[in-house]
Amino acid sequence: MDIVDALVEHHQVLRQLSQQAEEDPAAFAEYIRHLVVHHTMEEKYFYDLFEQVPAARHASLEAVNEHHIIELILKDAEGFPPEHDRFPIKVEGLSEYTNHHLDEEEMEVFPMARQLLAAKDLAALGAAFQEAKENLLNVRLPEVPAGIDTSGRSAGRSVAAGLGIGSLKK
Ligand SMILES: [Fe+2]
Ligand SMILES: [Fe+2]
Repeated sequence: MDIVDALVEHHQVLRQLSQQAEEDPAAFAEYIRHLVVHHTMEEKYFYDLFEQVPAARHASLEAVNEHHIIELILKDAEGFPPEHDRFPIKVEGLSEYTNHHLDEEEMEVFPMARQLLAAKDLAALGAAFQEAKENLLNVRLPEVPAGIDTSGRSAGRSVAAGLGIGSLKK
């Protein structure tokens, strides 16, 4: 699968998740996870190179700038409690802007890439993107352990015990 096909395939996943995200906080978290991986890897395996092609420079910079704007909208939505009655409208705003960005890439940027880059290079980039995407999406961070004492009262003792200081004194 070349880089254009790989990116378009992932766009479909993003569109689907964005639809579910307004009503389902778990889907919202998944949407954000995919979106961040998509943008980071799309820049690494596509835009960082494509912006070096003179005829593609402006379109590439514009797309990456849109990634930054999406990040700002995303931070704003993320800071909103999911139970707040305005949360769905925050997610809707993020989805609308993001979907517009995806459409523009598919209609304007990617056809340009097919014209300006060699098929073998598109294929090599596609393989790298797919591998990176799969690796990153499969990373599962452990949950924060429950019951951590945040009172600050037992911190000194815990640090000493953790460092084995108690046993050194014996
Ligand atoms: Fe993008
Ligand atoms: Fe994209």
